[in-house]
Amino acid sequence: MIKVEHVSKIYGTGNNKVVALNDVSLTIDNGEFVSIIGPSGSGKSTLMHIIGGVDTPTDGKVYINNTDIYAQNENDLAVFRRREVGLIYQFYNLIPILNVIENMTLPVQIDHRPINEDRLNELITLLGLKGRENHLPNQLSGGQQQRVSIGRALMNAPAIVLADEPTGNLDSQNSCEIMNLLKLSNQKYKQTLIVITHDENIALMANRIISIEDGKIIRNEVIR
Ligand SMILES: Nc1ncnc2c1ncn2[C@@H]1O[C@H](COP(=O)(O)OP(=O)(O)OP(=O)(O)O)[C@@H](O)[C@H]1O
Ligand SMILES: [Mg+2]
Repeated sequence: MIKVEHVSKIYGTGNNKVVALNDVSLTIDNGEFVSIIGPSGSGKSTLMHIIGGVDTPTDGKVYINNTDIYAQNENDLAVFRRREVGLIYQFYNLIPILNVIENMTLPVQIDHRPINEDRLNELITLLGLKGRENHLPNQLSGGQQQRVSIGRALMNAPAIVLADEPTGNLDSQNSCEIMNLLKLSNQKYKQTLIVITHDENIALMANRIISIEDGKIIRNEVIR
């Protein structure tokens, strides 16, 4: 379970001070699919990064399965990030000189763990990347690149998948495919899935929609 308690995030000081999150509390159950919507600059990415152990809150606490993640030492926090969190971004963030397999297995390699070949093959097939294993990112379409970045996020079988506008750079057909894949992995691997989106149709695929404005949660609606 993810528990965010009275989290605030303030960037900068003096005239440059920005309150990105203002006393945000929320709970997300394991296996839930939650979408986060809100205007540009409202704090969506900041909240996602704080849940994923990437950005430290100025105030408040984040518990993942009862562990206060920011009370851990830097090393344990890094291990949590690598093993329990899968991050997916709008612009894929693939390494240009690594092929599909190398990009997908990079987090496992960094973690000095053996590659689970069965999982790798399962993901390659699930993501429709068979025959593309040795291609470099610039030899792939946008949709394919995004599927590689999803594969990379899922290789470690993370408990939490965080996607920041994963379809923001894709046409409607690719968007639909990517969202179906994320939803499938949420159901199949029982992963908690949190998706930031500006697309109402995507938001409506979730179990719950959280709306953020000015660093505050203004709505938190269970839709199914
Ligand atoms: N590293 C940073 N330094 C200073 N201010 C920041 C930093 N990161 C974010 N902010 C500010 O915090 C606020 C929230 O930013 P955030 O990226 O969370 O918004 P967002 O809801 O994801 O917006 P968008 O939809 O445009 O991606 C914004 O006003 C932004 O300018
Ligand atoms: Mg953002």
